[in-house]
Amino acid sequence: MSNPSLLILPGDGIGQEVMAEVRRVIDWFGAKRDLQFDVSEDLVGGAAYDKHGVPLHDDTMAKAQEVDAVLLGAVGGPKYDDLDFSVKPERGLLRLRKEMDLFANLRPAQCFDALADFSSLKPELVAGLDIMIVRELTSGVYFGEPRGIHMEDNMRVGVNTQRYTEAEIERGARAAFELAMKRDKKLCSMEKANVMESGILWRDVVTEVHADYPEVELSHMYADNGAMQLVRAPKQFDVIYTDNLFGDILSDCAAMLTGSLGMLPSASLGSPMENGRPKAMYEPVHGSAPDITGQGKANPIACILSFAMALRYSFDQGEDATRLETAIEKVLADGVRTGDLLSDENSTAVSTSGMTDAILAALDASL
Ligand code: IPM
Ligand code: MG
Repeated sequence: MSNPSLLILPGDGIGQEVMAEVRRVIDWFGAKRDLQFDVSEDLVGGAAYDKHGVPLHDDTMAKAQEVDAVLLGAVGGPKYDDLDFSVKPERGLLRLRKEMDLFANLRPAQCFDALADFSSLKPELVAGLDIMIVRELTSGVYFGEPRGIHMEDNMRVGVNTQRYTEAEIERGARAAFELAMKRDKKLCSMEKANVMESGILWRDVVTEVHADYPEVELSHMYADNGAMQLVRAPKQFDVIYTDNLFGDILSDCAAMLTGSLGMLPSASLGSPMENGRPKAMYEPVHGSAPDITGQGKANPIACILSFAMALRYSFDQGEDATRLETAIEKVLADGVRTGDLLSDENSTAVSTSGMTDAILAALDASL
């Protein structure tokens, strides 16, 4: 049998730096755990625009459809701010999500014990926090038609459309309920059923799907209240299921709560392929961070944890995923810190690659 295949798309800014570190971790699992991958690399975002004039070349799109999993770094940067909307770096990312049909975006917001003091909330509100946001990723206002800017009565009008079919709501809901079953069996669905018809439908469909998961405790919340509850008492949540735009906003909010924005991974999953693996792309939640690019300051942990999610969700290697996550926890507990993390007299400041050195050492020690 051939090795599972990985397509690496470092993208822009610190995406390239952190992905170089992930490759070291992938190599470690090949050498020490006999988990071999066929790794290929290609361009996305501004890097693809510079070479091809588009943020994602058709050949790269085709490759992404064939591999077992895609690992993406980050896209965008000030250099590309003035580009036409249709070729902006973000369009490359959105095309991957849409054409691979990656409808379930898993965004864990987990607070590492060693970093609880770094949250903007009081440590007791966030210590031990472990939330999973499931964001619907391929529909809603991000993709709804009609859209555009047109003239009406001599005035420009900007239009976007929030649109959800019940099938789209349902498949994401199933993914969220399945996850809840493996966790604390609590699911909170968030929409704006008080002002949006798509929200009313959302609530109805999630309630219908609940019939198949009676063990899960389901609640519904308006998304604005959800945002408030997230900063008031975040530990009340286990799994949150919400739409594309609310999920974008709420996941940033949840991420910041953990004090670890530079540390959070994500998985975007679609339907199973012929080999039974889901279509999948893994990426850190953080962006391309142009302000620190090229200085060896970036924290590679979010991207490395994204590879851990790939081990768990694409390659059924939950044990090795946990091994990697535990190694990272250990390194943080030992006070190893990149510049984005709170440090004190007991911590050791390291560069991007220094952090990986420490993680690899902890992995060696785990054998
Ligand atoms: C995210 C990002 C993207 C989004 C951007 C880069 C298009 O904010 O993944 O959360 O809005 O979905
Ligand atoms: Mg976002």
